[in-house]
Amino acid sequence: LTGASQAVTGFSQRAMGARRVLVTGCSSGIGLAVAARLAKDEFRRFKVVATMRDLGKRGPLERAAGDSLNKTLEIKQLDACCEASIRECVDSLPDRRVDILVSNAGIGMIGPLECQSIAAMKELFDTNFFGLARLVKEVLPDMKRRKNGHIVVMSSVMGIQGLLFNDVYSASKFAVEGFCESLAVQAMKFNIKTTLVEPGPVVTEFERKVYEDAEKMDLSGTDEETAKIFREVYLPYSKKVFASLGQTPEEVAKAIEVIAAKDPPLRHQTNRLYMPMTTLKHADPTGRLPLDTFYKMIFKHDSVFNATLGVLRMLQRR
Ligand SMILES: NC(=O)c1ccc[n+]([C@@H]2O[C@H](COP(=O)([O-])OP(=O)(O)OC[C@H]3O[C@@H](n4cnc5c(N)ncnc54)[C@H](OP(=O)(O)O)[C@@H]3O)[C@@H](O)[C@H]2O)c1
Repeated sequence: LTGASQAVTGFSQRAMGARRVLVTGCSSGIGLAVAARLAKDEFRRFKVVATMRDLGKRGPLERAAGDSLNKTLEIKQLDACCEASIRECVDSLPDRRVDILVSNAGIGMIGPLECQSIAAMKELFDTNFFGLARLVKEVLPDMKRRKNGHIVVMSSVMGIQGLLFNDVYSASKFAVEGFCESLAVQAMKFNIKTTLVEPGPVVTEFERKVYEDAEKMDLSGTDEETAKIFREVYLPYSKKVFASLGQTPEEVAKAIEVIAAKDPPLRHQTNRLYMPMTTLKHADPTGRLPLDTFYKMIFKHDSVFNATLGVLRMLQRR
């Protein structure tokens, strides 16, 4: 938005009253940044209900919210894996009104498939996919009645293009993409907008947690070659990608502020430097192009890949 059009949107929004935004997973990372940014909006377009499953972790959000705490931002408990907790949170809001839902809570998982239990995979789907389904089930009927609403969903570039050793995480984000793409058409009939936000790497607790899990991972369940590829090829590459292309949670929050303000798209990739990777998928419907490219990049031309990351790192700094 240009400054002038933002100002117009701001003024008209103020006249209409602030929109209530419910954000999940606000104890850290992107959720925290989104909640704080929207609450501090200079046009006061938003009233933020920042939720987290463990209120004991509210300190960093309270500090980030500053003066907006208990004015344009309130903190409530919500566990995306518990229907009762979602209902209780929505019931506690005046008229149960949620104008914008930001479904952000999510967990990661990396490593060879043979080393991951089905229970852990189900837990991941319970948060990343069923968490979204539970939230939408709770707010959609009211949005339909009011013929107004916006569902913003934290997907990932891995919801567009699968990535080595991210099989289950990527599957959960593909599920999220299919769910939203299907729902969006019905929602449109009720003037409800749907947006899938698709960040590339973002430097948050998420990254730290998956690498910590990877260090502790028992790789005895897989063959030596796979274990070696994971440890010696994938992990160093992945760390370099985060260091070269990683965005801050604040950058993602800024994109969401723009999306929430006006005419939202169905999809929004937040990281332009990552786009060449996702574009490959659309360029070849047979799937050979992205497959061959990723294979060659990882197993054959790693020096070219490293040099490219160096250039991207430079562009990012600029
Ligand atoms: N970081 C990236 O590179 C990246 C890239 C693309 C997409 N994303 C997506 O962005 C979203 C946010 O991730 P992040 O990077 O900000 O990671 P993060 O800092 O680890 O934040 C994840 C948040 O989700 C919360 N959460 C997990 N399970 C929950 C549950 N059952 N109910 C409620 N909250 C729950 C966590 O709460 P606790 O503190 O209680 O665990 C935390 O507040 C995720 O959906 C992730 O898939 C991340």
